[in-house]
Amino acid sequence: MMMQKLRRSGELIRFGCKSLFTSRPNKNLVSRSVSGFVNHYKSKGKLFELSDGNYNTELHHPCISRNLGMLLQQYKCFGSSAASKIQRNPLFSSLDSRDVSYFKEILGEKNVIEDKERLETANTDWMHKYKGSSKLMLLPKNTQEVSQILQYCDSRRLAVVPQGGNTGLVGGSVPVFDEVIINVGLMNKVLAFDEVSGVLVCEAGCILENLATFLDTKGFIMPLDLGAKGSCHIGGNVSTNAGGLRLIRYGSLHGTVLGLEAVTANGNVLDMLGTLRKDNTGYDLKHLFIGSEGSLGIVTKVSILTQPKLSSVNLAFIACKDYLSCQKLLVEAKRNLGEILSAFEFLDNNSMDLVLNHLDGVRNPVSCSENFYILIETTGSDETNDREKLEAFLLKSLEKGLVSDGVIAQDINQASSFWRIREGITEALQKAGAVYKYDLSLPVEEIYNIVNDLRGKLGDLANVMGYGHLGDGNLHLNISAAEYNDKLLGLIEPYVYEWTSKHRGSISAEHGLGVMKANEIFYSKSPETVALMASIKKLLDPKGILNPYKVLPHSLFSH
Ligand code: FAD
Ligand code: MLT
Ligand code: ZN
Repeated sequence: MMMQKLRRSGELIRFGCKSLFTSRPNKNLVSRSVSGFVNHYKSKGKLFELSDGNYNTELHHPCISRNLGMLLQQYKCFGSSAASKIQRNPLFSSLDSRDVSYFKEILGEKNVIEDKERLETANTDWMHKYKGSSKLMLLPKNTQEVSQILQYCDSRRLAVVPQGGNTGLVGGSVPVFDEVIINVGLMNKVLAFDEVSGVLVCEAGCILENLATFLDTKGFIMPLDLGAKGSCHIGGNVSTNAGGLRLIRYGSLHGTVLGLEAVTANGNVLDMLGTLRKDNTGYDLKHLFIGSEGSLGIVTKVSILTQPKLSSVNLAFIACKDYLSCQKLLVEAKRNLGEILSAFEFLDNNSMDLVLNHLDGVRNPVSCSENFYILIETTGSDETNDREKLEAFLLKSLEKGLVSDGVIAQDINQASSFWRIREGITEALQKAGAVYKYDLSLPVEEIYNIVNDLRGKLGDLANVMGYGHLGDGNLHLNISAAEYNDKLLGLIEPYVYEWTSKHRGSISAEHGLGVMKANEIFYSKSPETVALMASIKKLLDPKGILNPYKVLPHSLFSH
């Protein structure tokens, strides 16, 4: 019996007062072992047309056609098929020396980056799958500079890519062609913190982990936490509407972001930096910028509701024999741990094996190898009660046969080692070779069916694994192979998107669409909705300079 075993071995011990959140290992975010570039666009002939004057119409202007032969460039990446190419929008200007001089004038020499090595890094995404060829990265120090940059780029029709920590997983943070990279990493000041309301106001370039460290000294925590926290920026988090490990408890950024400041394509500064929980004065436009992946403006400041740091945090690592048991465990956890439940994460056996094989110093905390593993974290204010509650819950689950083995971390180090397994999967996948990544929202009862179906379809061709934020209905479906190849890709797509759409899921739960899924938006959004999105894009960015080829279908921007 699990609980008897735990009691005997003395493992059933609470952690004490120190928050686990600060103790998780800093992820090795520079680990980029996969070489080569891949891009998997599928041309489905779903050309999207707007009924009124649109970006495409402008492409047919005679002056443009004259230059077309010269300007037509295709986004060609290793591993992509002939159908998977995007063309550079010939309406965009190309950078020249006068542009660079202007930027040096407003930003100073050292914040205008032309250095090859730094550009190589900034042009390449975290997974080494997407690579642009930008010749310039700009590092503004304040909102005014962002505004000046955008005003200039808009007048010159120079395309730009807003970049934060460059940890995005859909190719949204790097240029497709020669777009100017605007990285707000120097805008990294905490501007205000209200210890009564818990509202934090900061610049967009603050690294998530630094904000967490700052808040720790005040007795507060950030309402979001993710494996990339050592590198990602709060501005990037807001722009992707990042989910992560605590969403089950604190909700999405659409709820916790109280205000923001953003600069639109023409340099207009939109001050929506409210700090109020309630404000019903008409349209709440900040929501347009949460999750718009830099396509509508550059987020420069954020106001966010943080949470008091509670004294008792417990973490259990549990083995389950089948997916049905995982589902039932979730239902029971919500019912029995309700107010203290702060994470409910899962991984399958393939994910566990991958981590054990590719990450140093990791071991399976439970004695037996099972088909599924669950991490349940509780956060509360009553140390004795919270611990007893979790123990009683696990005992009951064991008696019901939902759980086959498990341990509760006895100290912060052990808790860190449990989290390392779940948070290390992304890094282990990188080390294993090529990875096709899908981030799906599905009804919880359907989540593992797609993993099984895809396994059946791919057979020995690849290793299919499932993990993710089970408590939020978010599956990370990953297909790991020795190398990228079009045959494999052809079996995965559009199958995964069609499956998801058929089950009324979303093809992006938390990573966004980026360049990877811009063309696939119709699997999750109706044509009318996409048309309205395109109109909003056109209103805020009439020349389409902000993060082109991302989020909305490429056909809007090219032939
Ligand atoms: P970037 O990657 O630089 O940019 C992401 C997008 O936002 C791009 O489209 C970019 O143009 C835009 N952008 C960035 N900054 C701004 C700005 N200031 N204004 C306007 N647009 C901007 N994501 C999750 O949701 N949950 C997870 O649990 C999670 N875990 C991860 C674990 C690992 C190991 C890694 C590598 C990634 C993980 N991610 C996760 C994905 C990624 O970390 C998030 O999407 C994160 O929010 C991106 O932040 P960033 O600062 O790195 O943004
Ligand atoms: C996670 O939850 O681990 C992240 O979203 C990253 C990933 O999907 O690999
Ligand atoms: Zn995730």
